[in-house]
Amino acid sequence: MSRKKIVAGNWKMNLDRAKAKELTAAVAARRGEAAAVELVLCPPALYVETVGAAIAGAKGTVGLGAQNMHDKASGAFTGEVAPPMLVDLGCQYVILGHSERRTLFGETDAAVNVKTKAALAAGLVPIVCVGETLEEREAGRTAAVVTGQVQGSLAGLSPAELEKIVVAYEPVWAIGTGKVATPEQAQEVHALIRGLLAKLSSPEIAARVRIQYGGSVKPDNAADLARQPDIDGALVGGASLKADDFLGIAKAFG
Ligand code: PGA
Repeated sequence: MSRKKIVAGNWKMNLDRAKAKELTAAVAARRGEAAAVELVLCPPALYVETVGAAIAGAKGTVGLGAQNMHDKASGAFTGEVAPPMLVDLGCQYVILGHSERRTLFGETDAAVNVKTKAALAAGLVPIVCVGETLEEREAGRTAAVVTGQVQGSLAGLSPAELEKIVVAYEPVWAIGTGKVATPEQAQEVHALIRGLLAKLSSPEIAARVRIQYGGSVKPDNAADLARQPDIDGALVGGASLKADDFLGIAKAFG
C-alpha cells in the first residue's frame, strides 16, 4: 500500500509576521526538493492568512493548517476560532488534540472527538494527535493509553470519515526534548494504531490512513523513521521553524 507521505510543520506560538512570511517563502520556493511528499504549514491562527498569501506560487502544493479550533461554527466563545473561519482563510488541515492542548488546556478525548467531527463537517482534514507520557511508558501502559486515546478521539466516525483523517503519534516524552523515539518504538505504536483503525473501519481503509510520527524529528533522524512501514510522515515542531531542517526532514520521507 503506498500512502503519500505527509510532513507538517507545527510552528506552535513562535515567530512574528515577518519571520512567518520569510519561512513560508523559503519553503514554497524550495518545495520541489521534496516533490513526492505532501507539505503542510501550521502557523499560529493569527498568521494563517499571511502564510496563505506567502505560499503564493506554490498554492496547491504547500498545504495550510491551523493548530487548534473550536468545535462550533459560530457563537459567544470569546477568544476562539471557528472551523469555517479557518476554511475561509484557505486552511485544509487542523491539528487536534496535540499533547500541549491536552495537558496545558485540559482537552479530553471527548473534546477532541467533538472537534474532529466538526473539522470533518467543515471540510478540514484533522491531524489527530495521540501519545503517552514518560510515566505511562515506564509503567508499561503505552498500548493501553494510545488505544484509549484513539478510540476516544475517533469514536463514532464513519469509515469514510476515518479514511480522511491523519493520525499523529507523538510520545509526550519526545516532544521538544531532543529525545526521539527509536524507529522500532515508533513503528510498534504506529502498527498498533493502524490495527485500531482497522477495527474501527476495515483493514482496507486503515491501510490508506496516514500516520505521522512527531517528537524531536530532525533531518538526521528522519530517514530511519521514514524506513518504517507504518510511519507515513512527520509532525515537526522545533525543526519546522528552519526551512533547511523542515525540507531536510521532508526529503527523508520522499
Ligand atoms: P518537536 O515538537 O518536533 O519540537 O518535538 C513536535 C510537536 O509537538 O508536534
